[in-house]
Amino acid sequence: MMPGDSVPGDVSAAEVAADPKRTYVVTHLPGDGVGPEVTDVARACVDAAAARHGFTVDWRHCGLGGQHYLATGEVLPDSVLDELRKSDAILLGAVGTPDVPPGVLERGLLLRLRFELDLYVNLRPSKLRAGVGGPALVGTGGKHEVNGLDFVIVRENTEGLYAGAGGTVHRGTEFETATEESLNTWAGVRRCVRYAAKLAARRTGRLTLVHKTNVLTHAGDLWQRIATEVAGEEGVQLGYAHVDAACLWMVEDPRRFDVIVTDNLFGDIISDLGAALTGGLGYAPSGNLNPDRTGPSVFEPVHGSAPDIAGQGLANPAGAVLSAGLMLAHLGEAAAATDLDAAIDAVLAEGAPASTGAWEQALLARLTQAGGA
Ligand code: NAD
Ligand code: IPM
Ligand code: MN
Repeated sequence: MMPGDSVPGDVSAAEVAADPKRTYVVTHLPGDGVGPEVTDVARACVDAAAARHGFTVDWRHCGLGGQHYLATGEVLPDSVLDELRKSDAILLGAVGTPDVPPGVLERGLLLRLRFELDLYVNLRPSKLRAGVGGPALVGTGGKHEVNGLDFVIVRENTEGLYAGAGGTVHRGTEFETATEESLNTWAGVRRCVRYAAKLAARRTGRLTLVHKTNVLTHAGDLWQRIATEVAGEEGVQLGYAHVDAACLWMVEDPRRFDVIVTDNLFGDIISDLGAALTGGLGYAPSGNLNPDRTGPSVFEPVHGSAPDIAGQGLANPAGAVLSAGLMLAHLGEAAAATDLDAAIDAVLAEGAPASTGAWEQALLARLTQAGGA
């Protein structure tokens, strides 16, 4: 298989049905802050959907995160990484806590997982659902309509400014110089764009490259040439938006977008905007994918550990549940994935629950009732 050839749900129904045991080893890495609160709900929903669809999840626990680091000094030991590699998938809550200096856990755990497991696509769907109040927006005639905002951001996830190239010299002097270099490789950009183009072909056939080619001329030129070539090969229509204009259009005219492909940092930023437009960070799912399936993929909500609301039972678990849905789709359990999605819609139709516990109760009621979500 060529890099980028696979898209979610590409394990065929026949392959799934032919597997007599259908047990998946999934590592649960709850992490910090609200991470455990939201992934506990996601896990219960996965188990409920699994029971309905005749498969089982063999959950393994991974206790890495802020507390483990403070107690032991360990961020991601190689032995744990070796264990994680044996999973079929990883369900992650969030990492990062104010007790630990910035970057230690984010770079050392989250980004290291993305790099070591070669999770080169970060798939971030943004969909406004009925029952979720998008923000009242000037210039949009009030609020976005349901069905008016339904796009997917394909964020390159192993390169760009995240790669870790750069450093500090002359530290502590007035000539202290800090550099962060954006790395963009032909192969890295191409495999990400390939994935996005194939996804676009399965949706509306429209792909938009979001970059800043008018300023970042070196990286922008590489991305533009590759996107033009790959879109042609995959038979999809390629559009382009500078990232600043893309932010404007995501708010004012989101119908312009279906599949967006973009570099690592732009994708990080615009996916929070996508979340804000679809109910808030609590609703936004993501899948860090290894589309070539040379190892497990990592599924996590877009939000972080939300220290400001942690421990209060206020975290919205929808993003974590929808991330678990992306995980089930990736594992080939498309019907179970659809159930999770439908359960979120059904709960929202009755009004968004006000607490994590109320969300869990309402979701499980849907997922365990006879006849479906
Ligand atoms: P954040 O996403 O944790 O929180 C931003 C805001 O959104 C907060 O007001 C928070 O209360 C709210 N929010 C987040 N999740 C919510 C939910 N499920 N329900 C309701 N409200 C929710 O971002 P931050 O405060 O900038 O970062 C906190 C920590 O998390 C930092 O250490 C950061 O590095 C880390 N972080 C981790 C991830 C990850 O693990 N994938 C992602 C983003 C940030
Ligand atoms: C995200 C987060 C991470 C990122 C951080 C915590 C490293 O913001 O998953 O969006 O920047 O990718
Ligand atoms: Mn982010």
